[in-house]
Amino acid sequence: MWSKQRPLADLQHANTKHTTRQGVSVQLTVVLLASLLALTQPTFANNEKTIEQLPDSLDQWYKPVNKRQVWLHTMFALRREMQAIDEYAALRDLPRLKKWSNKFIQHFNQLPEMVPEWDDELELDEITRLDTEVNQGDFKAVTQTLARISRNCRACHRDYRALAAVRFRTADFSQVSISDNEQGEISYNDHMKALSLNINRIKIASEDSRWNSAQQAAEGLRVQLEQLGKSCNICHKDQPPYERILGPASQQMLDELAQTIHQHQPKLTARKLGEAAVSICARCHSVHRSLSDIRHQLFP
Ligand code: HEC
Ligand code: HEC
Ligand code: HEC
Repeated sequence: MWSKQRPLADLQHANTKHTTRQGVSVQLTVVLLASLLALTQPTFANNEKTIEQLPDSLDQWYKPVNKRQVWLHTMFALRREMQAIDEYAALRDLPRLKKWSNKFIQHFNQLPEMVPEWDDELELDEITRLDTEVNQGDFKAVTQTLARISRNCRACHRDYRALAAVRFRTADFSQVSISDNEQGEISYNDHMKALSLNINRIKIASEDSRWNSAQQAAEGLRVQLEQLGKSCNICHKDQPPYERILGPASQQMLDELAQTIHQHQPKLTARKLGEAAVSICARCHSVHRSLSDIRHQLFP
């Protein structure tokens, strides 16, 4: 188990370090500011959030160790089986109720074998109770026990579900490299930095009427995006994700950008650049970069 530092505490810490050089008055301001914050935000001390660590044995139920996402599919089965139990209890259909509760119990009992570290999280006596009540045909009791079991599901999900999804099922770009014409294979991050340089170069140069520079940067950006586009199929076997971000609509935007640069139109250039940055960079970032950042932060 490990806890994440509050960002503001980091900030105050960083500020205090700087003050040793800048003198006492600044330091005093920082202290005052800190006390003010403490006064105005009485709940601040409780803002620390503890993040549970995922048990090691979960790894074996996911790619790349496993061929399938076994844990996730066991979960889908549990939810389906619970729904069937609930519906057949309401219909008072005992044979079908038995069929689904047997499946459910078998799957649930696999959980502590799959991840022994989670033994404590699992209320196995409720499962035994469910079994007894189903065999007695006590439909009302079955429904009540099911409600308690579903609280057990939620308790574990609160702590671990999002973490496991980020850890095991989000794209990992650390192994992806981009073929750059000049520099050979470069890391994803370095390619991103280069994209960002060209975007800003277009903006700076067009604002200052250095149209040749702007044009060169726009051409550079196009080449870089083409190189980036070739890497999508490492993970995406289908075209649509690529098309959505880098397809004809984006190509047209880049054409229009080149046009406004060619016509020496600073305002229109800024507008086209903004549109391209949103529909190409920001849209991909909302899927891939944010999750990638969270993944790095939680699982360095
Ligand atoms: C000991 C921990 C634990 C327990 C108990 C548990 N789960 Fe999960 N569950 C997880 C984790 C971890 C994930 C995230 C898996 C992933 O995203 O790959 C998950 C994900 C799921 C999902 C997929 C996410 C979604 O909402 O679509 C379903 C469905 C699910 N669980 C159903 C259940 C049901 C039903 C129960 C109770 C009978 C249950 N789980 C009990 C740990 C648990
Ligand atoms: C390291 C693997 C990986 C790479 C490389 C990758 N993606 Fe993805 N991408 C995924 C995964 C995993 C998902 C989530 C679900 C899926 O498979 O569609 C996803 C989802 C998406 C989505 C949202 C789902 C959709 O169909 O619209 C878009 C858009 C997308 N990727 C665009 C891109 C583009 C554009 C590139 C290349 C510039 C790219 N991705 C490169 C793994 C990757
Ligand atoms: C796959 C879709 C995708 C597209 C399209 C994309 N990015 Fe990124 N970008 C990423 C991912 C993923 C990361 C995080 C990389 C990592 O985790 O190593 C990232 C990170 C970055 C970073 C941070 C680099 C650093 O120093 O940490 C910058 C800056 C950036 N992108 C700029 C851009 C710009 C500008 C564009 C558009 C011209 C763009 N990106 C288009 C996926 C994309």
